[in-house]
Amino acid sequence: MQDQINSIKEKVATLIKNAVHSKELEEIRINFLGKKGEFTTLLKSLGSISAEMRPKIGAMVNEAKAKIEKDLEKAVADLKRKELDLQFEKEKIDVTLPGRKPQIGTAHPLTIIQNEIEDIFLGLGFSIEEGPEIDTDFNTFQALNFQDDHPARDAQDTLYVNKDILFRTHTSPVQARTMQKMHPEPVRIICPGRVFRRDAIDPTHSPQFHQIEGLLVDRDVKFSDLMGILEIFAKKLFGNDRKIRLRPSFFPFTEPSAEVDVSCIFCNGKGCSFCKGSGWLEVLGSGAVHPNVLRMGGYDPEEFTGYAFGMGLERITELIYQINDIRYFFENDVRFLKQFK
Ligand code: PHE
Repeated sequence: MQDQINSIKEKVATLIKNAVHSKELEEIRINFLGKKGEFTTLLKSLGSISAEMRPKIGAMVNEAKAKIEKDLEKAVADLKRKELDLQFEKEKIDVTLPGRKPQIGTAHPLTIIQNEIEDIFLGLGFSIEEGPEIDTDFNTFQALNFQDDHPARDAQDTLYVNKDILFRTHTSPVQARTMQKMHPEPVRIICPGRVFRRDAIDPTHSPQFHQIEGLLVDRDVKFSDLMGILEIFAKKLFGNDRKIRLRPSFFPFTEPSAEVDVSCIFCNGKGCSFCKGSGWLEVLGSGAVHPNVLRMGGYDPEEFTGYAFGMGLERITELIYQINDIRYFFENDVRFLKQFK
C-alpha cells in the first residue's frame, strides 16, 4: 500500500513536471483526485486494511493528496503566467514603429478649376444654376434658334434617347430652362455641367466633357458689358496681366457672336510653342442673346437684351495645368490625380 502511494506520488510529480498546458494539469487533477481518480479509489480500499494500519495509511494518503493538490495549484499558476507572457509577447505592439499614414484624397483638377471659376462669377453677382444631363430636343436646339437642318442635330453628333430626348451636347439648354422659369425677371447665372457628344476618344476628344455656361438677361445690357465681364474673368483666372481679344464667330443662339481669346498664359502674348506663335489662346464662345431666343424664353427683345458665354472646363484646366491629353481626366490614375492640390 505504501509503495502504491509512493509510486502514484512519483507518477504525478513527473506528469506535473512535463505538463506544458494548463489543460493537461486539469486532466491530472481529475485522474488522481477526482471522484473516480486513483486516490479516491485508494481511500475506498482502506476498509480492507487492518485496523491498526488504517490511521497511518490514511494519513499517508491524505498527506500525498494534499501535496499533489498543492503542487498542482502551483503548477497551474506557473503555467498560466507562462501562457500569459507568451500571449503578451505575441500581441506586443511596438509603439516606436512609424505609423501607416492614411492617404488623403485631393480634389479632381476639373473640380479645382470649376470651383475657382464659380467663385469668380459668384463674386460678380452670378448665381449657379443646374440642368439635367438628358434634356429635350426643344431645350437643347429649338429654343436656342437652331434650324432643323443644323449639323449639331444630326445623329452623328448627338446621342439621342429617342426623337425628342437626347444627351445634351452643351450646357446651353440651361439658358432656355432658366428663361422659361424666370421671365420676366432678370437672369444672371452660370451653369457648370457635363455634356456629351458622339466622339471617339483621342487626346483631344471625349464623348463626355464639361462646360460652364453663362447667361445674363436684363434691361439695357450692352455688348461692352459682356466684354467687361469676360476681361475681369480672364484676369482673375489666368492672371492680372492677361488681355482678351474677340473674334467674330457664329452660334445660332447669339447675334453677334464672338470667339474669345486670352493672351497666352505662358509667353504673355509674345508667341511661343504653346500658343503656336500667335500669342493668343482660344478659351470660350460668347455673344449677345439672339432676339428669337429671348422671345422663346418669354422675354420681349424690345425691352430685354442679354449676353451669353460658354467655355470648356477641360480645355481651361488643360491650359492652367499644362495637360496635353483629355483622357487623363477620366482615367482616374492616382499618380496623375495626386499632383493637384
Ligand atoms: N454652346 C456653345 C458650344 O457648345 C458655347 C456658347 C455658349 C457660345 C454660350 C455662345 C454662348 O460651343
